[in-house]
Amino acid sequence: MLSIAEQVNSGRLVCPRTHAPLQWDDGWLTTADAAYRYPLIHGVPVMMPEAQQAAYLAQEQGKMAIEYQQAGRQPLWPRWVTRWAARDYRSEPSRRAFAQTVAQQPDGALCVAVGGGPFHVHPRLTNLNIGLFANVHVVGDAYALPYADDAVDAFHIEAVLEHLEFPETAVAEMFRALRPGGQVLAVTPFMQHFHAYPNHFQNYTLVGQERLLRRAGFEIRSAGVCVGPTYALTSLNYRFVAEYVHLPLLRQLLLALFAGWALLVRPLDAHLNRRANAHILASTTYVHAAKPLP
Ligand SMILES: C[S@@+](CC[C@H](N)C(=O)[O-])C[C@H]1O[C@@H](n2cnc3c(N)ncnc32)[C@H](O)[C@@H]1O
Repeated sequence: MLSIAEQVNSGRLVCPRTHAPLQWDDGWLTTADAAYRYPLIHGVPVMMPEAQQAAYLAQEQGKMAIEYQQAGRQPLWPRWVTRWAARDYRSEPSRRAFAQTVAQQPDGALCVAVGGGPFHVHPRLTNLNIGLFANVHVVGDAYALPYADDAVDAFHIEAVLEHLEFPETAVAEMFRALRPGGQVLAVTPFMQHFHAYPNHFQNYTLVGQERLLRRAGFEIRSAGVCVGPTYALTSLNYRFVAEYVHLPLLRQLLLALFAGWALLVRPLDAHLNRRANAHILASTTYVHAAKPLP
């Protein structure tokens, strides 16, 4: 990943309010006229008003990060078993889109994961998040990205658009900050339960997500299912029990049953994802797009 120092010194990481370049000033990043300044917390620039950041943390107390990190705890069995069990059999076209957007970028490319963390899904990605927790490299708001116009080579935004009350604003911000020819990969839930990180406003159909990006000016390169129908069905089964079955013994029994069922049937998605109607019950869909060249 392009270091924060390189991002600042090259004028790409800028003031989110004025888009003016920043200077280093005794542990702060400041605009040349000193009108705005942003602190670094353990080396992570906090590129938004402190009050906004404090409000987010107070509201959620890092709930999502805690949940994600608990999921990552070492159990009694080897890690590969957990990784295998958690496989989502995402589609080949969506993997190719990720490779083209992020993995195949040249050294020195600036690739930003909006709403990224606590996982660092690729070493090239700079995780930008409204909360400060593990693997967040820049604290910032999707509605006011701290990047200059045409400064970013690629954006990855996965499982985030559903949490934004104004997704159009975030998409317009990515369009502004992306260089012409730069790519964006959006992956968003369609068939998923309500999950508030910190809130949950909508899910997207495939066509809905495609139109969202097209309306902002993006050219669509490919679009389709990312995580398929069997994953959707099994995770909703599991969630139903976790949410509504309270008798302890029955709950444990059903949870174990559905977990086993999920392991058995999820590989079906490797086949279903190739079907034209896979998006009708997909867990998530993806849209791979580019900012047109002038
Ligand atoms: C469901 S999580 C997805 C995390 C990660 N992208 C992944 O796929 O594992 C949604 C993330 O979006 C972040 N988020 C919500 N609103 C945001 C905003 N306005 N700007 C930046 N990040 C935001 C949340 O803090 C949360 O970490």
